[in-house]
Amino acid sequence: MEYDMRPTSSVLKLVVLGFSSVWPCAAAQSTEGKALLERNCGRCHALTPEVLSPLKEAPNLWIVLRSYPEERLEFELSEGIGSRHKEMPQVQFTSEEITAIQNYLSGEIN
Ligand code: HEC
Repeated sequence: MEYDMRPTSSVLKLVVLGFSSVWPCAAAQSTEGKALLERNCGRCHALTPEVLSPLKEAPNLWIVLRSYPEERLEFELSEGIGSRHKEMPQVQFTSEEITAIQNYLSGEIN
């Protein structure tokens, strides 16, 4: 009987471990997404709803980026949105960074 139980419990442990390593990771990614925007865009753009941008002329990125269809957002973030505006830095995010930013924009504010 004891021998029969072992495989089952180790499978269970694996499942539990799997979940506990995936879930906090998703949360961390969304924080990471916000941090990325803060670091690169936050000195001019507001990044949370109902906040005015530090630079008056810069639109609220929470609102603007969330209004983009997914493919456009991916394209813009990977190509460097900044290129269109002289004063904006041209930041080209990696696909991991883009995923983190998308998680932030689609999830709760944190
Ligand atoms: C030095 C200040 C500054 C920084 C830093 C900056 N921006 Fe901007 N951004 C602006 C200004 C000013 C505008 C509005 C004028 C314009 O659209 O040309 C703008 C416009 C935009 C728009 C266009 C909105 C629209 O209506 O099409 C997007 C998207 C954008 N910024 C994204 C970003 C992202 C993403 C970052 C960080 C990687 C960033 N910006 C960093 C100043 C900045």
